[in-house]
Amino acid sequence: MQRLVSYRSEFPILERKVYLNSCSLGALPRAGMAAVQAFLDEWAMDGAAAWERWLKKLTRLREFYAKLLGVTPPEIAIVPSVSGALSAIASCLDYRARPRVVSSDLDFPTLLYQWQAKAPAVQLVRAATPDGVRIPLEEYEQLIDDRTALVAVSHVLYSSHWLQDISALARMAHARGAYLLVDVYHSAGVVPVDLIAMGADFAVGGSLKWLCGGPGTAFLYVRRDLVQALFPTVTGWLAHADPFAFSTELDYAPDAARFHSGSPAVGSIYAAHAGLEIILEAGVAAIRDRVADLTDYLTAECLDRGWILRSPLDRAERGGAVFIQSDRPAALAQRLLEDGIVVDARGPCLRVSPHFYNTPGDLEALVNSLAQ
Ligand SMILES: Cc1ncc(COP(=O)(O)O)c(C=O)c1O
Repeated sequence: MQRLVSYRSEFPILERKVYLNSCSLGALPRAGMAAVQAFLDEWAMDGAAAWERWLKKLTRLREFYAKLLGVTPPEIAIVPSVSGALSAIASCLDYRARPRVVSSDLDFPTLLYQWQAKAPAVQLVRAATPDGVRIPLEEYEQLIDDRTALVAVSHVLYSSHWLQDISALARMAHARGAYLLVDVYHSAGVVPVDLIAMGADFAVGGSLKWLCGGPGTAFLYVRRDLVQALFPTVTGWLAHADPFAFSTELDYAPDAARFHSGSPAVGSIYAAHAGLEIILEAGVAAIRDRVADLTDYLTAECLDRGWILRSPLDRAERGGAVFIQSDRPAALAQRLLEDGIVVDARGPCLRVSPHFYNTPGDLEALVNSLAQ
């Protein structure tokens, strides 16, 4: 515990604010600032010669994401956003015999838009939620059948931080001949993610939130034995097997690099790399324990005061955030900001997401301010 608290000085925002919004935007570490400065220095001093180093950084980032997710670097593509990665996956599935994609309204909208944009060739089928917090496995069971091309779900639901049983969903999808795609944006960096144990065919996520790497860099995982059968029609020159041959004939890379597109946002890659290095060093298993302790504490404090929660009460079922119901969440978030406390408002709730650099004192400050 003490070891994780020692990281606090690495995050300048913690000197000025009670920062409890890491599932929206992780705090920027000093190492991230230095990395972006290094990128600028290389650009200023070396010009185009810096590309060689920049492309090595891209390769290194694939290795780091692979380590985080328990897979191999060739199974990882670096993409500018999860939305872009989903569009590329959506572009290369065959919907003729299997026109359906199963997802839910508790998933992030971009996960739903991909298939709506392909209607009527693709039909989006939504699993129901009894309470706006969770989706029972039986709901999926009823919907997944031999018309299903893909089951597209989140490991942790952004709308309640309910942790889903992805292995069970993957078994269900595979038993009916469908693929499983998991969005790990709200788990990667705060809940251990083992894509092999999950049995996922595809995964998407990024560095913006729990990985403290800022916007502009995301990842796509494609299972090794699947990749060569996929030909994304959303593409670009870095998807080529040998991009620097500048061939005018498209020949896809043999690994997940076939999901790359054009020149990457190098500054963002530097920031993402620095954030990920800290998360891997701190260790996701330790972070998971720490954040579960913090969210347990907040959950108990809220329940004591009779506040209604729309996130799981049991730490084993909770990602990294607590959702406190309110009839005016945006106004409350604004009022908290005046006290130097940063949370966000989602739906009918305040969403509070502490990370490994937070303390019980931060949550105490939030609860005291809210109580007033
Ligand atoms: C679960 C989840 N998936 C996807 C996204 C969108 O990702 P991107 O902006 O990289 O397309 C978000 C953004 O907050 C998200 O919370």
